[in-house]
Amino acid sequence: MMGAAYDIVDHSHDVLVVGAGGSGLRATLGVLEGGFSTACISKLFPTRSHTVAAQGGISASLGNMGEDHWSWHMYDTVKGADWLGDQDAIEYMVRAAVDSIVELEHYGMPFSRTEAGKIYQRPFGGMTTRFGKGPAAERTCAAADRTGHAMLHTLYQQCLKRKADFYIEYFVLDLLMDDSGRCCGVLAWNLADGSLHRFRARETILATGGYGRVYFSCTSAHSCTGDGGGMALRAGLPLQDPEFVQFHPTGIYGAGCLITEGARGEGGYLTNSTGERFMERYAPSAKDLASRDVVSRAMTLEIREGRGVCAKGKAKGDHILLHLEHLSPKVLHERLPGISETARIFADIDVTRQPIPVLPTCHYNMGGIPTLHSSDVVNPKGNDNDRIVEGLLAIGEAGCVSVHGANRLGSNSLLDLVVFGRAAAQTCVNRLQGGNGAAPNPSSTSEQQSLARFDAYRYAKGKYSTASLRDALQHLMQEDCSVFRTEKILAAGLQRIIKLWSQLPSISISDRTLIWNSDLMETLEFENLLLCATATLSCAHQRKESRGAHAREDFPKRDDDKWMQHSLIWLDKGEGKDKGKFSSRFATRPVHAKPLTAEPIPPQERVY
Ligand code: FUM
Repeated sequence: MMGAAYDIVDHSHDVLVVGAGGSGLRATLGVLEGGFSTACISKLFPTRSHTVAAQGGISASLGNMGEDHWSWHMYDTVKGADWLGDQDAIEYMVRAAVDSIVELEHYGMPFSRTEAGKIYQRPFGGMTTRFGKGPAAERTCAAADRTGHAMLHTLYQQCLKRKADFYIEYFVLDLLMDDSGRCCGVLAWNLADGSLHRFRARETILATGGYGRVYFSCTSAHSCTGDGGGMALRAGLPLQDPEFVQFHPTGIYGAGCLITEGARGEGGYLTNSTGERFMERYAPSAKDLASRDVVSRAMTLEIREGRGVCAKGKAKGDHILLHLEHLSPKVLHERLPGISETARIFADIDVTRQPIPVLPTCHYNMGGIPTLHSSDVVNPKGNDNDRIVEGLLAIGEAGCVSVHGANRLGSNSLLDLVVFGRAAAQTCVNRLQGGNGAAPNPSSTSEQQSLARFDAYRYAKGKYSTASLRDALQHLMQEDCSVFRTEKILAAGLQRIIKLWSQLPSISISDRTLIWNSDLMETLEFENLLLCATATLSCAHQRKESRGAHAREDFPKRDDDKWMQHSLIWLDKGEGKDKGKFSSRFATRPVHAKPLTAEPIPPQERVY
């Protein structure tokens, strides 16, 4: 029973893009260039999207600073992904990389330059030459250490130039589906004036970002609340591989803010409490530039084994030091100005003189809404592992294409955004050119369910504040689903999450208005976080092996026979007598081990 009647404003477009980060803006641009009407809906002003925080760079085998080739980039990405990545999608991405950089350059992106005027490229973790046999590749194109900022502003300006139709500070509540399972658009809430909006479209692209905020310590913006994943799960669609969560080795101790891997790319290194450069023991060849999962685990082990650095006033060592003070002031000033400032503000450190205290911090979700490399969302059924959901695409961190598999290499994320943002636009344009007709109509149930959920939270009068439940969620994920995992810890985490679900019907909202009601918005975001966290923890519990970022101490080996498979999970939020519960269904989906044209890269032991 609803507490209020809602008037809904109608819109119809060829394509909707939900989210205005790097992938959303690139998709918007592509659809506009194709001549179709696009609405880009974002809960944030576009240039405040989390892409703005990306620092170190965007990978592409330009070869500006040394020899390089897309096939080496492909090998590194497949290996970095610990053979869980789809090799067709990976080939697609690395081959499109060079053109994507040139395109960004022509759009006006202010890359850093070499003396010769070429785009500057730095080494990044796991990026090598000659299929891992040559020296580190200098493959990561950078705009100092503010590459995401430069990219986001460039894409936004290009969208403005093409007069994109932006709906800014609109919070999308749910996907609107028809009875056949086709996506027909979304229902959204205008945060500024409180009105509700029904957007119908022939194609809807989810570009809503990740859900780093399920963790207490993360590099993600407060807005990274898994809204796309929540919408997909509520619409009966699965998430793929959510157990694979990347911990970035160098979050500032205490604050969690990112210190770019580019800092190690420029020559920075890590030490423990004895002053030892311990990465030489864990990754003799790549050392501090091993891939992120390897470095984060090594740091965690050093701390566990008593070689963590002790903060003032603390009895036990609990962090590691990142040294940049040996780098020339010119390098720090020109290549790492942003993190020099971040270290000063958040750690009171002058990087020219002191090391930065750092700790692995949640940084990226490898899993998400499963897609093909066309960016079409899939909802596998029976033997049809690649069954397309009509009218729905997902890109960027919201999607799982899966180019990152079990572990993403640094600087492959910005690349993923532009390559698959463009691919999604192309898919839509091709389909729209060949098709006809107006935007389809969603079923009335789809809309009613969404409105009822909105209304129930708006008038919620329970005893738990959203902030207290979110805090409990973030702590349980940090404690029970972190860098190292065991059956016992994950099972304890599941119990804690079951308790949170039982508390959800007793959530409390104090603001009943519709205009700038951040209490209500954070509650809707909390449900999305809870859904994504439940998927993550449940799949981490299911997967009985160690692969990439998923390190099970009780199953320390990778098990290709059983687990070289994507995990899929569908979640149902209980209603009626099941209110306060959830139910889950699991399946697996074969990894696409066959590239588009290249020879497959067979599984090998992953050493750096
Ligand atoms: O370390 C960084 O600059 C992060 C880059 C990335 O996650 O790709």
